[in-house]
Amino acid sequence: MEALTSSQPGQPPRHVAIIMDGNGRWAKARGLPRAAGHQRGASAVRKVVEGCVDLGIFCLTLYAFSSENWKRPPAEVDDLMGLLRLYLRREISGLNSSNVRVRFIGVRHDLAKDIRSLIDEAEGVTAGNDGMTLVIALNYGSHNEILAACRQLAEQAAAGSLQPADIDEGVFESCLDTSDIPHPDLIIRTSGEQRLSNFLLWQAAYAELMFVDTLWPDFCRENLEQAIDEFQRRDRRYGAASG
Ligand code: IPE
Ligand code: IPE
Ligand code: MG
Repeated sequence: MEALTSSQPGQPPRHVAIIMDGNGRWAKARGLPRAAGHQRGASAVRKVVEGCVDLGIFCLTLYAFSSENWKRPPAEVDDLMGLLRLYLRREISGLNSSNVRVRFIGVRHDLAKDIRSLIDEAEGVTAGNDGMTLVIALNYGSHNEILAACRQLAEQAAAGSLQPADIDEGVFESCLDTSDIPHPDLIIRTSGEQRLSNFLLWQAAYAELMFVDTLWPDFCRENLEQAIDEFQRRDRRYGAASG
């Protein structure tokens, strides 16, 4: 991947990350089961991915399932995993034709074996693509990710191959799932909730946050374009004086 630089002032974001929230409330408002909301949510994914490809976004990360989402009833977890299977089976060839490189972040060993195979296949088939990178955060949580990085560094220090004083941002980031992905420039959360829910906490240090009331199944290309327009009007200062 290219250098891990952020987008330039007034330019579109290089990396957009989305917390896709509100499927349950979308279904409830219609008297439908939560599964129906997740199904519509999966359709919204397709449109937003296409939109980002058309808009020339370099990287799109989608929060699909958090490390805390296992707390949901088993039937809902099964529905979500079933939709993921469907998505991977149906969409990978189209994504590959669109030159999209698919990547996953999060802990894989807790996932069903067939899902791990689909993930490996999706990453393998699209590995050589140099268009947009689509990162799917699955069984992902920043605390897990950061703790795993700490363990890795502590092991290296204990083995004598790393001096604690040499641990800087670069060394630390090299141990994160996102080591070769630029930090998000824009994080959008749908459904009106204003929190990050354990998503890209380290990487979000200077991301522009955007909280929109639209429920994820209703999020469309127009919403995406509006968010990108607003991003381009924001003044990112990274701690420097305002001008
Ligand atoms: C997002 O919608 C989907 C996942 C978290 C996997 P929710 O299922 O969280 O929808 P709400 O928040 O209950 O409306
Ligand atoms: C965050 O949404 C996780 C995903 C969108 C995958 P949640 O609905 O799980 O978050 P909380 O529980 O409201 O914080
Ligand atoms: Mg939610």
